[in-house]
Amino acid sequence: MWNRHSFKAMSDHAWDDLWLNARIATMAGDGWGAIEDGVVAVAGGRLAQVSPRADLPRPPAALARRVHDARGCWITPGLVDCHTHLVYAGNRAREFELRLEGATYEEIARAGGGIRSTVAATRAAGEAALFEVSARRLQRLMAEGVTTVEIKSGYGLDLETEIKMLTVARSLGERLPVTVSTSFLGAHAVPVEFDGDAEGYLDLVIDTVLPAVAEAGLADAVDAFCEGIGFSAAQTDRLFQAARRLGLPVRLHAEQLSDLGGAGLAARHGALSADHLEWLSAEGIAAMAAAGTVAVLLPGAFYFLRETRLPPIADLRASGVPIAIATDCNPGSAPVTSPLLMLNMACTLFRLTPAEAVAGMTRHAAAALGLGASHGTLEAGKVADFVLWDVEEPAELAYAIGANPCATVVRGGKVRSA
Ligand code: NIG
Ligand code: FE
Repeated sequence: MWNRHSFKAMSDHAWDDLWLNARIATMAGDGWGAIEDGVVAVAGGRLAQVSPRADLPRPPAALARRVHDARGCWITPGLVDCHTHLVYAGNRAREFELRLEGATYEEIARAGGGIRSTVAATRAAGEAALFEVSARRLQRLMAEGVTTVEIKSGYGLDLETEIKMLTVARSLGERLPVTVSTSFLGAHAVPVEFDGDAEGYLDLVIDTVLPAVAEAGLADAVDAFCEGIGFSAAQTDRLFQAARRLGLPVRLHAEQLSDLGGAGLAARHGALSADHLEWLSAEGIAAMAAAGTVAVLLPGAFYFLRETRLPPIADLRASGVPIAIATDCNPGSAPVTSPLLMLNMACTLFRLTPAEAVAGMTRHAAAALGLGASHGTLEAGKVADFVLWDVEEPAELAYAIGANPCATVVRGGKVRSA
């Protein structure tokens, strides 16, 4: 029937943009989910169709307002860096030197350096200056294809500075073309003014800082550092109960330097992720598998702290625990702003396959942020965040060191300028 409605459908383009001549790693399902001679269609900032070109119902110019040539590039989902501490001031190069002379990360922390020295620098920094140094780090992540990034607080450890850090994180997401997910990490370390009184500091976090952060809508999740130099499992449990009363999901730095049973505890709280995990036990793996908690592995921190104990990769894999990979961008354990180098290290140090590593920075990383329904794979209906890579095969993303084959980034359907 020829009516007004069908006339409109035939004369108007159904799609805003159509990318042709692409090879696509959808990252949906296991492996690359590869499509040769593929097309990506975008409408209203969402993916409208991701398929072989042969599945197009009409000629491209009749389907989309703008038709783009992907020039044979491989297209992947936009990279998701699901664990960073990229808002901070100062640096810890001097501690790097001390560690090279034999001091350990824990010794430096116990002597009042480590996280506390970054806390002092971050408290002293003005909000504008903190934004500038953080934006520079974020732009380096974005230059290698990051379209979504998680950013933690945890270098304030008082109400004012935790709010300042999270405000800067939120404004990075408003002023730069990148999606920011925030985690409140007030329980990162005990600040100097609460020396010897972890419980007293935790009271401040639970009774004052966390409610203020939640009220201001500044946190998408709550994180903690469960470790001998951080907080005990019992203290973490107390924090997580408070987080859940406020309706906030939790994630945890767990089993990085020792096994305190943090991952199992986090899983019992339905945690989105447990991160680091070099000392993860069989019980921890079982609890994570049962809860669907993502294992976020951080090869940059493993490398930079010259750790020797590997996370239990084979057992995580065998138990079906999703594995994500992130930079951990922070001044102490991972001064890293190269997500591609992390893909390489995930393979060389942790023996992931390149497809597992890329899934770890797309599909499983999105799940670790609770964004699995909208991000992380190239499937119709999801947000149109994707990257064109100038490579012959997708494994090159994890293979090359120091190359950046990122050719074009599309975020929310729009080409992001460099
Ligand atoms: O993820 N482990 C705790 N937190 C960070 C390091 C923080 C720091 O040393 O400044 C991490 O490794
Ligand atoms: Fe971390």
